[in-house]
Amino acid sequence: MTSHTEQSAVTVLGLGPMGRALAGAFLDAGLRTTVWNRTPGKDRELVERGAVGALSPEEAVAASSLTVICVVNYDAVDAIVRRDAVTGALEGRTVVNLTADTPDRARDAAAWAAEHGIGYLDGAIMTPTMTIGTPAGVFLHSGPEELYRRHRPVLDALSGTHTHLGADIGRAAAYDIALLDVFWTAMAGYAHAMAVARAEGVTARELAPFAKGIAEILPPLFEQAAEEVDSGRFSGEVNPITSAASSMAHIVHASEARGIDAGVMRAAEGMARRAIGRGDGTDGFFQITEILNPR
Ligand SMILES: NC(=O)c1ccc[n+]([C@@H]2O[C@H](COP(=O)([O-])OP(=O)(O)OC[C@H]3O[C@@H](n4cnc5c(N)ncnc54)[C@H](OP(=O)(O)O)[C@@H]3O)[C@@H](O)[C@H]2O)c1
Repeated sequence: MTSHTEQSAVTVLGLGPMGRALAGAFLDAGLRTTVWNRTPGKDRELVERGAVGALSPEEAVAASSLTVICVVNYDAVDAIVRRDAVTGALEGRTVVNLTADTPDRARDAAAWAAEHGIGYLDGAIMTPTMTIGTPAGVFLHSGPEELYRRHRPVLDALSGTHTHLGADIGRAAAYDIALLDVFWTAMAGYAHAMAVARAEGVTARELAPFAKGIAEILPPLFEQAAEEVDSGRFSGEVNPITSAASSMAHIVHASEARGIDAGVMRAAEGMARRAIGRGDGTDGFFQITEILNPR
């Protein structure tokens, strides 16, 4: 296969909202784009725009030297590719798996690929579908550096920022899990905050401008946390754990007084109380990282 073909054709398996966005961006960039999805019909609009709709995953992967997979999880990936016809058609080609799952599943997928002579890169998409094909997209990749460099021109057709995190195939998934941990705990916290506010007669609209102010406090705290967690030294000068635990207790009491579940905040307060119980009450809040995962 010539390098020209390598850089001008791509296959996309999985046409959920994200797979469709990826395939659309490849088409917009002028690549010959072959698509397939388990449930037929989801390729209609893409085919109208010039994509080749394959009738089977084996036909789809045979059309390009690079296949991008983006489905709900790695069970779905396995259901598509771990069949003789598809595995055989992928031999000598490369898979970039942009499906989200765990680092262990990424390592398992890489072992399967190596066993079958398939090049394998794992990745994660950190931004929503509307960012794909724009500078706002954020893509993380891990796996063999040479393979990443070789296929980078095709990945660049997606626009956005692409970061290769290293040869450890589990690294993109590790970042993904950690970053989604930030995202979903923040989302759960905000849903809880709106429920508590509503119980006190405060609408979500009234709360929103002040909530945005709270969000703006976080980026400098992330910088501070990076120093503290990596060094193992936690400054509680400005906001010691004792003060944090007291603030959390107010949230628990106010919630439960209105019959609102406070389980998430109770768990956070519990960790702060454990740190205090260990004699670390004058340290800063990020000390609880040591309770969650002692060095
Ligand atoms: N949407 C976003 O904004 C976003 C942002 C960042 C990352 N991601 C990640 O991108 C991936 C895809 O997300 P998505 O938004 O497209 O929607 P999704 O609901 O997570 O995935 C839908 C896709 O998975 C396929 N699928 C599910 N079970 C399957 C199975 N057993 N066998 C074969 N295919 C199966 C669906 O096929 P059918 O149509 O046949 O059901 C469809 O193509 C996920 O890992 C998600 O976490 C999404």
